[in-house]
This record gives sequence, C-alpha cells and structure tokens, in this order.
Amino acid sequence: MTRQFFDLSAFPRQRPRRMRKDAFSRRLMQEHRLSSADLIYPCFVLEGEKQREAVPSMPGVERLSLDYLLEEARQLVTLGIPMMALFPVIATEKKSLDAAEAYNSEGLIQRTVRTLKSAFPELGIMTDVALDPYTTHGQDGLIDDDGYIVNDETVSVLIKQALSHAQAGADVVAPSDMMDGRIGAIREALENHHYIHTRIMAYSAKYASQFYGPFRDAVGSAGNLAGGNKYSYQMDPANTDEALHEVALDIQEGADMVMVKPGLPYLDVLYRVKTTFQKPTFVYQVSGEYAMLQAAIANGWLNEQTILESLLSFKRAGADGILTYFAKYAAEQLRNQHD
Ligand code: PBG
Repeated sequence: MTRQFFDLSAFPRQRPRRMRKDAFSRRLMQEHRLSSADLIYPCFVLEGEKQREAVPSMPGVERLSLDYLLEEARQLVTLGIPMMALFPVIATEKKSLDAAEAYNSEGLIQRTVRTLKSAFPELGIMTDVALDPYTTHGQDGLIDDDGYIVNDETVSVLIKQALSHAQAGADVVAPSDMMDGRIGAIREALENHHYIHTRIMAYSAKYASQFYGPFRDAVGSAGNLAGGNKYSYQMDPANTDEALHEVALDIQEGADMVMVKPGLPYLDVLYRVKTTFQKPTFVYQVSGEYAMLQAAIANGWLNEQTILESLLSFKRAGADGILTYFAKYAAEQLRNQHD
C-alpha cells in the first residue's frame, strides 16, 4: 500500500484533495477532536478577599483570591471543563526551610479546596504537591548544607502535604516535584488513611525546562530560586527513554494518571508515553508556551487560531487531557463552533 504513495500512475484516481473540498467531508474524516472535556484549568490562588493581580509575563492570567476563584469555578462548570488545578501564592513570611506551611490544615490551599468543593462538588479539584511555593529558596524540596535537594526527607513532607490536600477534599493530588519514590509513598499513605478515592496525577516526565519562567513569576518563586536550577531532579531535555522509565515507575507505584511537561516541545515524549503504556495520559501546556503564543498574537504576528491548533496537536500525539491557561478561551471557542 505504501508504494502507492509514490506511484504516479495512481493519479488521477487518487486525489486526496477530494475529501478536503467541502466542510462536510472534512468534518467526517477528522481523526481527532478537541472538546471542553479535555481541558484542565490551572489557577493561581491569592490570600485575602477581593484580590486580583495580573501576571505580567502571562497576559490574560490573574492571581485571584477565593471569592473570585468561586466565580471562575462557576464559569468552568458552565463551559463543561471538568477540573481546575490550584497553585498557591504564599506570603514570604510563611516560607521556611522546612516548608511546614505546605501541610498546614488551615493553609491557603487547604481552605480553598474546602470552599470550592462545597460550592461546586461536581467540579474536579486538583492540587499541586511540591514544596517550591513554601521554601525560602524556591526549590521543590528540602536542602542539605551543600544546597542539594534531599530526596527521602522531602518525600516525608510531600506525604503530609498530599494527606492535608486529600483531607481538605482534593479529588486529584498531583506531585510535581520529581523526587524518587514519592508516588508510592503518597499512595501508601492515602490508602492507610482511607483516602482510597483520591486520584494521583503524576508529573512523571517533567523536564528541567526554561519554559516555566512565567509560572515562577506568577507564584513568586522565581526571585527565590535566584540563579539556582532544578537539574538534580527534573529531567534533561535531551532524553526520552528516561521519561519512559519515570512513567513506568510512577505507574508501578500507583499513579492513576501520568503527565508529560512541557507540551509542545515534548510532543514526541507524549506520543511515546501514550503508545507505550496506554494509561490516562496528560500534558501540560506550560506558562512559557502560553506566553509565547500570547506575545505573538498580541503583536499581530500570529492569529488566535494558533491556540486551538496547538491544543489539537496534543490530542494527535495521544493526550487524554491538557492542562492549559487557554482552557476557558478554548472551551468558549469550541462552544461557538458547535452553535
Ligand atoms: C512547581 C511547578 C512548576 C510548574 C508547575 N508546578 C514550576 C517548576 O517546576 O519550577 C510549571 C507550570 C508552568 O510553567 O506553567 N513544582
């Protein structure tokens, strides 16, 4: 069959353009479709009331206090978006070397989850399990005297953090820290405390990427990281087999969902993860990807349709769902298309 591609005598019998001529046949042969059910909306959470702050490097994205977040949640439900993901902005005075605020049952995230779940029980709430918003140095874990991020001690804090999120009612806990063994440890702790329904979305293949820059501005961990980097725990952008290995471990340790992050620059990894494991597979279109598209659109260099095209590429590569700051925009566009 493949030989026919090169067999010129097949023309004009083979005119692939026939199927592209009209909208009806283009629609009929569409292999992948994006829907609002594919989207997860990441939100930055502020302390207080009536607080909203723009994130300069992410035009259109704001940090919001809980009262405004409730409005967002209502919109997500209306748009048919199944889940929101919460990222806290933690005051400097609450950051510490031991990141104890991460598992405070009255902490910002824990209170936010409780309120959102009681107001919108049908909306999925996902929380980030990692210490970077809570450490003075902005690393995802605890450090030793040499500044090395220590694994097992960090995991013991992550367990407490994940349990406090589950207790507050989080539907999905999402460890984004890349410590070894954390999925198994968190799963065991959840089971032991009878949180048997709490799902784990593992940031399994998380790369040490420069595309996280605007996110670190948004949560205020960029300044703290001050020239530091995350190379000793996040993955080298040069590798793909290593990603498969990480995903295999997380599945074995009890992850319900696995994730590849960032998105567009790692579509090959996403494709391999999905085809190798056939697990519910997610991708994070990260802050830098968002900023890049928004900057080009704002300058008139690209049009807005590039947004849905970028999201569709994730579906093609095998994603079951996409974390994206464009979630609300995309769901609105899709709704209008169907009208
Ligand atoms: C922190 C975390 C990061 C992101 C999600 N959780 C940043 C980092 O690892 O430094 C990035 C998200 C984005 O860039 O949109 N554990």
